[in-house]
Amino acid sequence: MMNRANDQRSIPSSQDVEDALEDSNSSANLSIHEISDPSKRKLLYGGMAAASASLLAPLARAASANTHASATKPSIAQADSSAAQATKSSASRLGFKAVEAQDRDGLWVPEGYEAQIAFLWGEPIGARAGSPAWRSDASNTAEEQALQLGMHHDGMHYFPIDGSRRGLLAINHEYTDEGLLHTDGQSSLTAQKVAKSMASHGVSVIEIAKVSNQWQIVNPSKFARRITASTAMRISGPARGHPLMQTSADPQGHTVLGTFNNCANGFTPWGTYLTCEENFANYFQGREKPSEDEARWGIRQRDRGFRWYEHEERFMVEKHPNEAHRFGWVVEIDPFDPASEPVKRTALGRAAHEGAWVSVTKDKKIVVYMGEDAAFEYIYKFVSAERLRPGGYRANKDLLDHGTLFVARFDANGRGEWIALKHGERGLDAARGFKDQGDVLIRSRQASDLLGATKMDRPEWIAVDPLSSHVYCTLTNNSRRGMPGRPGVDAANPRANNSMGHIIRWKEDGDFDAQSFSWEHFVLAGDQANQREEAKGNMRGDAFGSPDGLWCDPRGVLWIQTDASASEMYIGEYQRIGNNSLLAADPSTGEVRRFLVGPVNCEVTGITATPDLKTLFVNIQHPGETPGNWSDPKNPSRFSSWPNNKPNERPRSATVIIRKRDGGVVGT
Ligand code: FEO
Ligand code: CA
Ligand code: CA
Repeated sequence: MMNRANDQRSIPSSQDVEDALEDSNSSANLSIHEISDPSKRKLLYGGMAAASASLLAPLARAASANTHASATKPSIAQADSSAAQATKSSASRLGFKAVEAQDRDGLWVPEGYEAQIAFLWGEPIGARAGSPAWRSDASNTAEEQALQLGMHHDGMHYFPIDGSRRGLLAINHEYTDEGLLHTDGQSSLTAQKVAKSMASHGVSVIEIAKVSNQWQIVNPSKFARRITASTAMRISGPARGHPLMQTSADPQGHTVLGTFNNCANGFTPWGTYLTCEENFANYFQGREKPSEDEARWGIRQRDRGFRWYEHEERFMVEKHPNEAHRFGWVVEIDPFDPASEPVKRTALGRAAHEGAWVSVTKDKKIVVYMGEDAAFEYIYKFVSAERLRPGGYRANKDLLDHGTLFVARFDANGRGEWIALKHGERGLDAARGFKDQGDVLIRSRQASDLLGATKMDRPEWIAVDPLSSHVYCTLTNNSRRGMPGRPGVDAANPRANNSMGHIIRWKEDGDFDAQSFSWEHFVLAGDQANQREEAKGNMRGDAFGSPDGLWCDPRGVLWIQTDASASEMYIGEYQRIGNNSLLAADPSTGEVRRFLVGPVNCEVTGITATPDLKTLFVNIQHPGETPGNWSDPKNPSRFSSWPNNKPNERPRSATVIIRKRDGGVVGT
């Protein structure tokens, strides 16, 4: 990780930060298809250009070799013999021709597909007629930004209004690149700049409609809304009012301002959106000598470059030690009511939450699967005490406040147990420092340590296969696995220096609320051409690494999105894999096939679709990211100016809308 010359702090980029986190234990829509202009080919990493050029050379060969190549080792998914038998007589669920790996700037989708680029950072959301347009020199004010789409899109969900033609799109804005956000970056950091940064975080709700075969933001729309790092929201569940949640600004511990580092997401059967607070610790200025709890949660003496604390005192732990307890939650938002108050659901536990996938048992209990993306952290699930009721959000508005949180233990014999985080059970009591259930939920990491849960290789998204009921979780990577002083390999996390990541899956013993399960690896990611045995992987099909986003569509196709760090993407073990991508896997055969390749130094994330599965939405986050640093406002397009491709113009996160040219189901 690089440090800024003038300030020896590491600066966040999504994967770079996640990699670096210490284990504490008008519409500018462009129509685009296969943009691959060779003249736009650029050497990556400036001063490393000579080295990069030679490192990149093998990619084209590797790409053609990888496409449809069969791995020499069988995928573990092939062990599913009944499914494998079935596919011998049935067609693959993947009907498209693979896209080759790329290291150039652009966007690639399969032959026969088209991709529309829309909903860019800074576009007016339509909350008010005549909202200010985005200015390419980043001179929009904080007030204007609060009426525009935020930065660095991540998880999202499409809520239909008129089926597959019109709906609401809720989009997370995970974090900011402070070098791109302000005209002159963070020089002379003013209160206005901090306010703009806070307004660029959070969630957008936009109304979108298909007009003349192009998707557009409906502007104005009565639904359009921004939720930011300053929006008031209610704390509910067992930690509401807890002494650890009380601050001088909120002595009752009932109301908190804002949500930030909103990573992945979920949605409920009653029509609400769940947004998940991930690396909240990055925003706090810690103490010189952190408490044991602060150290366990990764709160360090210096924040990670956002510097909000310089103008917002609540982010200084010394002065406001409880403020950080009010982040790391799953937040429920009613996208259909722009006046509704978002709610932090503390019964689901506090974590550096990646996402929250909701399943419903046959007897209508709600189960929420959650990963905590940090090295050696845990996989959780919440089981509601009460049952889903007919009648939408109004009838189910307290359902996520009552229930039991469990953490997963993966045993070496392929079995696993869900262990309840319940005060008074298994040592979670006052003698061990847990005074009550609120305490257990606020300090869920420490509770899980005590319960002997399995320390995983950075659990990211979780998806449930509606056909088989398998639950899948991406474990993006963990290069610290097996290092001296760190946990070694275990059955569920079998590779030391796990640079490539893997996908684990399990089946509950009965319904989703079961307390035990059987597990196996779906795939170990990697590249068969890799020199290092442990980075080869065992996939059948296209090479990939650092799986992150995950969704199983109603046809049973598993969509995998990658987030390899920009610092590593084109060098060493990642040199043949190239830009981050979206791949599709057929769980019945284990085959993985590359479907979309994104721009240089982007992350591909945030996947959702219209109900007819004919329109797929994915997000491109941080195109052209500067590895380990904020981008240089004087040279914002050093790595990319996607999607507008204008010299010296800021690259912008955006949503890519993919359709099959013949109007068919995406992926067939
Ligand atoms: Fe924000 Fe773990 O990705
Ligand atoms: Ca990631
Ligand atoms: Ca992620």
